[in-house]
Amino acid sequence: MNQDELKRQAAQAALEYLPDSGVLGIGTGSTVNHFIDFLADVKNRFEGAVSSSEASTERLKAIGMQVFDLNAVGELEIYVDGADESNHSLHLIKGGGGALTREKIIAAASKKFVCIADESKLVHVMGKFPLPVEVIPMARSYVARELVKLGGTPVWRENFITDNGNIILDVQNLEIMEPVKLETQINQIAGVVTVGIFGHRPADVLILGSESGPKTILP
Ligand code: A5P
Repeated sequence: MNQDELKRQAAQAALEYLPDSGVLGIGTGSTVNHFIDFLADVKNRFEGAVSSSEASTERLKAIGMQVFDLNAVGELEIYVDGADESNHSLHLIKGGGGALTREKIIAAASKKFVCIADESKLVHVMGKFPLPVEVIPMARSYVARELVKLGGTPVWRENFITDNGNIILDVQNLEIMEPVKLETQINQIAGVVTVGIFGHRPADVLILGSESGPKTILP
């Protein structure tokens, strides 16, 4: 199976975590796109969804799901999203698609975060995938200098603006031994909107697509 088929397998396996009704939290990326395709068959059970990006909103509307503003709904039962890396505690790196801030908000507002990915995303130490940091545009150089002090090599994701109108710095060469601590440190830098480490709010379940079928990892 290729990587995309493994992503699709994980997405299908996540269907069993869906509640019977209510509003769903939906993330962003190619794995979630498969999940949205599967949702098309069961969508009538749900009032609708809250979406972490304009791209997912468009896809949800295309399958006939209503998309709500997060402020219009209460706590969500479930949030389903992909990841760029996960460690065995289900701390994640997210933001490869640039939607990290909205993803972090919806994850925080959800009772259960089900993360779906192909098995290549599970690592012992995160950091091989460049860590995305969403930054207010005027703070770009300052934040980059501060990230260098933390041992990283920030690279400006050129020609990319987030749905919130900000820029992304992708930080290379990090070995993230203490994800929760590093998340706090980076979030303290003035001008940082969000860092793509999900340490304070890790996933609750990780479903990995693999050659031998979907694997469920708990923290
Ligand atoms: C989007 O900003 C990301 O956090 C995605 O969840 C992550 O990049 C995983 O994407 P894929 O499902 O495309 O691998």
